[in-house]
Amino acid sequence: MTNATLTTLKNRRTHYALGKALPQSEAAVEALIKEAVRLSPSSFNSQSSRAVILFGAASERFWGIVTEALRAIVPAEAFAPTEAKMQAFAAGAGTVLFYEDQATIKTLQEKFALYADAFPGFSEHSSGMAQISVWNALADAGIGASLQHYNPVIDEAVARAFDVPAEWKLRAQMPFGAIASTAGEKAFIADEGRFLTYGNAIAAE
Ligand SMILES: Cc1cc2nc3c(=O)[nH]c(=O)nc-3n(C[C@H](O)[C@H](O)[C@H](O)COP(=O)(O)O)c2cc1C
Repeated sequence: MTNATLTTLKNRRTHYALGKALPQSEAAVEALIKEAVRLSPSSFNSQSSRAVILFGAASERFWGIVTEALRAIVPAEAFAPTEAKMQAFAAGAGTVLFYEDQATIKTLQEKFALYADAFPGFSEHSSGMAQISVWNALADAGIGASLQHYNPVIDEAVARAFDVPAEWKLRAQMPFGAIASTAGEKAFIADEGRFLTYGNAIAAE
């Protein structure tokens, strides 16, 4: 089956080894990221997702903040691999920080009281949708990325460094850049036990 979406999904992989050279200008990549977030669905079309887009020195500064936050909690003798990982992310062209606006969620909870308990979960789903949209769009542009989660230990320092509004909650970090290594083979679990499909025969019963 040839399908553009499936081709994109197949091409999108986790790339840890990244380089600085982007196949497009920073302005074009920024526009791509913004449009991918804008076009992503959200519960009640609440558009709760926010993004902080960091290029070059700003992205390196971000990974420096993560390094120092981790240095404070990771045992010194085990820190070398962690630091190497941070350096690999900083070697990329940029990083997208995915946030969810808690003020939007609170407004929804007040407006639609019946769903109040569901909105925090919906917000997580919406963030995931924004993340995969950006990851796919970057993959289509020939840009490698991975998905990281160093929140919440970095939240305060990052908010201070980049003037992030207090209502924004950090959910994920996506370092991106030139693809500097080939993604390995990916194994898939069996379809059996994973999918249930029913058709007209069941519906008619
Ligand atoms: C919700 C979610 C959380 C993830 N968290 C991390 C993470 O914290 N660090 C990381 O290196 N990769 C993370 N990943 C990436 C997965 O490990 C990766 O997507 C998976 O192994 C499949 O590989 P692929 O991305 O090459 O298809 C996450 C992926 C998802 C969907």
